[in-house]
Amino acid sequence: MNTTLYIKQKTKSLLLIAILLCLGSHSKAQQKQFTPGKIWPDDKGVHINAHGGGILYKKGKYYWFGEHKIAGDAGNRAMVGVHCYSSTDLYNWKDEGIALNVSDDPENDIAKGCILERPKVVYNKLTKKYVMWFHLELLGKGYAAARAGVATSDKVTGPYTFIKSYRPNPGQMPFYTPLTPENEKVNCAAPASETDGFFCRDLPGGQMARDMTVFVDDDGEAYHVFSSEENYTLDLAQLTPDYTGHTGKFIRIYIGHQTEAPALFKRNGIYYMIGSGCTGWAPNAARWFSAKSIWGPWIFHGNPCKGPDSNITYGGQSTHVLPVAGKKDAFIFMADKWTPKDAIDGRYLWLPITFKGDDIEINWLDSWDLGVFKR
Ligand code: GAL
Repeated sequence: MNTTLYIKQKTKSLLLIAILLCLGSHSKAQQKQFTPGKIWPDDKGVHINAHGGGILYKKGKYYWFGEHKIAGDAGNRAMVGVHCYSSTDLYNWKDEGIALNVSDDPENDIAKGCILERPKVVYNKLTKKYVMWFHLELLGKGYAAARAGVATSDKVTGPYTFIKSYRPNPGQMPFYTPLTPENEKVNCAAPASETDGFFCRDLPGGQMARDMTVFVDDDGEAYHVFSSEENYTLDLAQLTPDYTGHTGKFIRIYIGHQTEAPALFKRNGIYYMIGSGCTGWAPNAARWFSAKSIWGPWIFHGNPCKGPDSNITYGGQSTHVLPVAGKKDAFIFMADKWTPKDAIDGRYLWLPITFKGDDIEINWLDSWDLGVFKR
């Protein structure tokens, strides 16, 4: 081909690509606001399918991981796996596909039809791997297994490889600090309460692990926080340096009070946790805690939500608190509004957290944008 013809053809194809790109970006209006509780279309115009999710920020991009639900009567069973989306602005999300697939082998821990909830992904600097933890219930066993599951990947969007699932910290007693009250120490020779009894019952095989989150501290230590003891008590447990196991060091938080859906964050050296009560898919009042040390004491502060429907978290249940990159004191409370009869239609309630000194407050907004965060 002669040079003029080549340049002409090259120009033609570049023009075509430019036109297609333009058409592509104009066919989908860019979203500029959060509208809690409304359908939230992804880049393909499909309602985001990432329930009970969490978000990892890496190199200028946010990655949202959550439970992929399907339409119809599968209810809460995991028929597909964990879905991943990416975004640079938090309003517009690109479908990155399934990060962790359930297995077609019915003998596999994460067999298709199991219950796989609340996936959270963190990055491990030592191994350079992305580590995903989730709550796992084995196929056909209802909510009896109460296990923690872990999978890893070299690439943030996956595919993640399932490693193992188990009940954490078998044979390990809680870690006590000088501030742990005497009446919070377990005595398995004579358990003082129902929840202590569950703890002692599960001591040999490991503690139950249901609703959960993972939190990475500034020093790189990671913690798995999970509802344990038949959901009566929350455990906060240290993960191994590669984040794929438990070290055996853990504390029990708000013993006997049934906290679920934990979400942790840190501001000005203070640790915060928001959680819910325990009423299944039905919403209840949120609760928040704070602590000066990750090992406690964790102080209970009641409901952070204010105004109408604050007693039911505006119809939602916490799943994650997202620090907005590059903004000071900017944290987004993320909750799920479950629709158990048609799980795929579940909605997302994202609301800004307001600080009053070191106290927090959450208020309902029909729509809002990141401009609410001042700096
Ligand atoms: C909720 C929990 C969800 C799911 C549900 C099942 O309390 O937060 O993740 O486990 O119960 O009923």
